[in-house]
Amino acid sequence: MENNKMIEVTDLSKDYHVVKKEAGLSGAIKGLFKSGKQTIKAVSHVDLSVDKGEIIAVIGPNGAGKSSLIKMMTGVLTPTGGQVLINGKDITKNRKEVVKNIGVVFGQRTQLNWDLRLGESFELLRHIYEIDRDEYEKNLEVMDEILGIKEIINKPVRQMSLGQRVKGDLVAAMLHSPEVLFLDEPTIGLDVNTKFALRKFIKEINRVNKTTIVLTTHDLGDIEELCERLIIINHGKIIEDCNLLDITDRIAPYKTLVVEYYDDENIPTHENSTLDKVEGNVARYRFMKNDITAAALIAELSNKKKMKDVAIEEVGIDEIIRIAYGQ
Ligand SMILES: Nc1ncnc2c1ncn2[C@@H]1O[C@H](COP(=O)(O)OP(=O)(O)O)[C@@H](O)[C@H]1O
Ligand SMILES: [Mg+2]
Repeated sequence: MENNKMIEVTDLSKDYHVVKKEAGLSGAIKGLFKSGKQTIKAVSHVDLSVDKGEIIAVIGPNGAGKSSLIKMMTGVLTPTGGQVLINGKDITKNRKEVVKNIGVVFGQRTQLNWDLRLGESFELLRHIYEIDRDEYEKNLEVMDEILGIKEIINKPVRQMSLGQRVKGDLVAAMLHSPEVLFLDEPTIGLDVNTKFALRKFIKEINRVNKTTIVLTTHDLGDIEELCERLIIINHGKIIEDCNLLDITDRIAPYKTLVVEYYDDENIPTHENSTLDKVEGNVARYRFMKNDITAAALIAELSNKKKMKDVAIEEVGIDEIIRIAYGQ
């Protein structure tokens, strides 16, 4: 039977051992005499499986363990325990081989050579990865269409803007046609246009090449644009692994109907909804999707009092995530 799993993470953990410092000056002085060792469980017994061709987003608060997880999945960091299989191969045992099948972009750190022009950096990678000339040219051509990379190909990396640099990094990560692409905060600090180009590129390589994509992000637009599946981690553990639509239905299965009346007298209520808030002539009705449809609610309320305008608000992804973190 063909294995459809591109990534299989089992019982993966990472502990960091740090010297504990006490706060303040007295802490600093005490630190000279005694050093308390502390263990940080950055990633704790994580199981995760990603199918070929999937795009998933890993999100979580700062310090949740996202980068540590990505680093272990890309072989940059050795796990304290557990296993990472990429296309069935253990990344720790077959590092050299597996690395040829993955691309990595760290938004906050470049893999390009500061002292070279972008094109020279690519050439270097072409030799390292032993990419043949035709494949290289073809890949560059395709990526140029979306990212406009040829305009900056002769620019020294040192002189590039953040957006240009990240585009360069993305191309560098994909030159050897890997089946899996890892992106750690790829859109952080980017302008809107570059962000859009990046998302378009990610969608396109996923659609055309079926590239499996794992990304971490703080940008909710990235999630809404790119992913169906969301992994939420906190304190090194997965607290949600779900479909984006399912989580909305489960965590916030309600909508809000906002009605503007002509005046603020005798604002009506409705038995299938909660009158959340009234401000002057504007009333907010929260209703469960299963209890009543928006159309019925509008019809029945407007029988009670004439309406000037209505709007329906869904719970945003930001709100969903806030609720999920709190749970
Ligand atoms: N090299 C390191 N040495 C010690 N602690 C680290 C190191 N890298 C990360 N940590 C700690 O591990 C935890 C997870 O960090 P990280 O994986 O960077 O989380 P995230 O990417 O979600 O912000 C944090 O508490 C962080 O301070
Ligand atoms: Mg991080």
